[in-house]
Amino acid sequence: TKPLAIGVAGLGTVGTGVLALLRDNAETVAARAGRPIAVTAVSSRDRTKDRGVSLSGLRWYEDATALAADPNVDVVVETIGGTEGPAADLVRAALSAGKPVVTANKALLAVHGAEIARLADRKNVPLMFEAAVAGGIPAIKAVREGLAANDLSRVLGILNGTCNYILTQMRERGREFAEALSEAQKLGYAEADPTFDVDGIDAAHKLAILAALAFGRPVDFASVHVEGIRSVSALDIKLAEELGYRIKLLGIARRTDGGIETRVHPCMVPVSHPIARVDGVFNAVVAEGDFCGRVVLEGRGAGGGPTASAICADLIDIARNRRTPVWGVADGALSALPSIPMEKR
Ligand code: NAP
Ligand code: HSE
Repeated sequence: TKPLAIGVAGLGTVGTGVLALLRDNAETVAARAGRPIAVTAVSSRDRTKDRGVSLSGLRWYEDATALAADPNVDVVVETIGGTEGPAADLVRAALSAGKPVVTANKALLAVHGAEIARLADRKNVPLMFEAAVAGGIPAIKAVREGLAANDLSRVLGILNGTCNYILTQMRERGREFAEALSEAQKLGYAEADPTFDVDGIDAAHKLAILAALAFGRPVDFASVHVEGIRSVSALDIKLAEELGYRIKLLGIARRTDGGIETRVHPCMVPVSHPIARVDGVFNAVVAEGDFCGRVVLEGRGAGGGPTASAICADLIDIARNRRTPVWGVADGALSALPSIPMEKR
């Protein structure tokens, strides 16, 4: 059977993770996809860097958007990052050319998601982004499909692995904030600009995507209340512990009479709550629905392996031609859930 040919733009933590997974799990992936999935072309800034994965036999492009025009690329995987510039140009070029796109770029989706999803919709091309929220946790599928029959009242969670890693290291090992952040960077958890992590912006990007899916309406990213973890001190963590709480950076979206409330900030979580003990790079996503009750998902929220797992699951769906009802838009929201007027909810 003809392999599904993939072009990967960005060969950092996530991009190389995708290459490694498709190499190591080639048989499993082919069996689940119904045909082999093979990377045929890549793009990065530096052609000479040793990335720990073989690039031999792959076409390399300096200009990422060239992947969209390559006739031997069926699907584009975007793992560059950023809301503007090469990542945004590539995603738009690929969709315009009728090529499915898989992206891990939550910043791009939170800021330009509705417009990009509309383009995908118009072109009738899949736009997949499981990797954009909570790393290896299939949070998008769960909220969008698994819980689709529910009216959700709240989605919340630990949505940034770097912050959770830092807070855990400060609590368990007495590490300094800066030292723990530097470790998270070395482990490949942090964004290229780690202020996105520690200032809560990355968690807010993910929350905006989750909330749009959960509530079937667009979320204006500018309306999300965002507060990071810079002001959390070792003493705060210790005092919280003594009172029976853990400090976690949470993203919370809930339906209120006045609309959808979205906020990211450090919270005191009682140790009895299931997410209080979600530590290190792990994330948690909690959804509360009228028929399902509370659903809690936990898993590694950052790093090459977990993120590649999510990207490759999307590739398998594309290979199988499994069109989730959800890659398009409804009323401008990054969702195919119908936007039900608030008063009817
Ligand atoms: P990264 O390690 O910094 O890798 C970024 C890659 O993009 C690098 O290989 C870089 O090339 C390449 N790149 C930069 N500008 C480029 C351009 N103009 N043309 C072609 N390639 C270019 O970043 P990452 O951690 O893998 O993250 C990538 C994306 O995944 C981001 O959107 C991030 O938010 C998202 N994400 C990351 C994680 C994670 O755990 N790290 C998890 C989920 C989602 P060079 O190597 O040659 O410099
Ligand atoms: N920087 C992000 C985090 C990567 O730490 O959660 C995963 O999206």
